[in-house]
Amino acid sequence: MTTRPSVAVERHLTSDDFARTLAADVRRGLTRRAKTLPPKYFYDTRGSELFERITRLPEYYPTRAERAILTAHADDIAKLSGADTLVELGSGSSEKTRLLLDSMRATGTLRRYVPVDVSDGALLGALKALRDDYPDVEMRGVVADVERHLHLLPRTGNRLVALLGGTIGNLTPGKRRRFLSAVRANLASSDALLLGTDLVKDPRRLVAAYNDTAGVTAEFNRNVLRVVNRHLHADFAPHAFAHVAVWDPNREWIEMRLRSILPQTVHVRDLDLVVDFGTGEELRTEISAKFRQESLEAELAAAGFTLAACWTDPAGDFALSLSTVR
Ligand code: AVJ
Repeated sequence: MTTRPSVAVERHLTSDDFARTLAADVRRGLTRRAKTLPPKYFYDTRGSELFERITRLPEYYPTRAERAILTAHADDIAKLSGADTLVELGSGSSEKTRLLLDSMRATGTLRRYVPVDVSDGALLGALKALRDDYPDVEMRGVVADVERHLHLLPRTGNRLVALLGGTIGNLTPGKRRRFLSAVRANLASSDALLLGTDLVKDPRRLVAAYNDTAGVTAEFNRNVLRVVNRHLHADFAPHAFAHVAVWDPNREWIEMRLRSILPQTVHVRDLDLVVDFGTGEELRTEISAKFRQESLEAELAAAGFTLAACWTDPAGDFALSLSTVR
């Protein structure tokens, strides 16, 4: 018998499920006084490609900073966690993941990789790119919404659950508390959490990271309108909206918005919804919260985690923290 690397994908988020959730989210967001759309809908195939381009922009430092931390400390993370299973929430292209997998393999513990993402395209692409380089590793992709399907993730092994890139910053503080508590509730006493968080810094650099001169982030932002158009037969004209990125110094988060450049009416056919936008009216599409080390530790503690280690890149732009359960 030959042993072949086993690659499997399980789906908790079906396309029906996706369509229902999108419809409810769009109706709720567009009928509010201050209009919003949730950031998780940026990531169709085009949106995921645009995000990959963002990660290579000169202004967008988080990906490079996090990669620098992983390059320096993946061995520490592998040893401290002792995990045999890496569960990566919001894995996307799994590009930085190799650094962790390589260290876990060198430590001799690595057995299983479980990437979890809403996009089955991204998941399959990532698994295909990885499987030949890690033939002895069991790969189990999971298509899921990490805000709803945490309890369905595989429980085998000593797990290191990773949420990288600063993605936790997309959640408001209340949702963050609920999410971290839910992660905690689903971990066993030997499991650990690896969390990437962008840090508060000079607002000019923060704004530039979300408003690049090449306009890639602007197209990424408008992409959510294309996703709504396609799935719900809406007629948003993406270029009738200007890209806006602002730093909120009180809440310490970046807000991305789409500002209507003229008075316009949008029809969302599948929802029987007519939405008016005045000139200058803004639709909020994303928040990206930035953290401070003390408040991060407090948030983790409130969710039942104990900080075991926290690393930053040399410039102190980004933090990667490893927590155990308490
Ligand atoms: C993938 C959520 C971490 O908030 O920085 C990049 C998404 N938005 N540019 C972030 C994003 C605009 C990104 N995360």
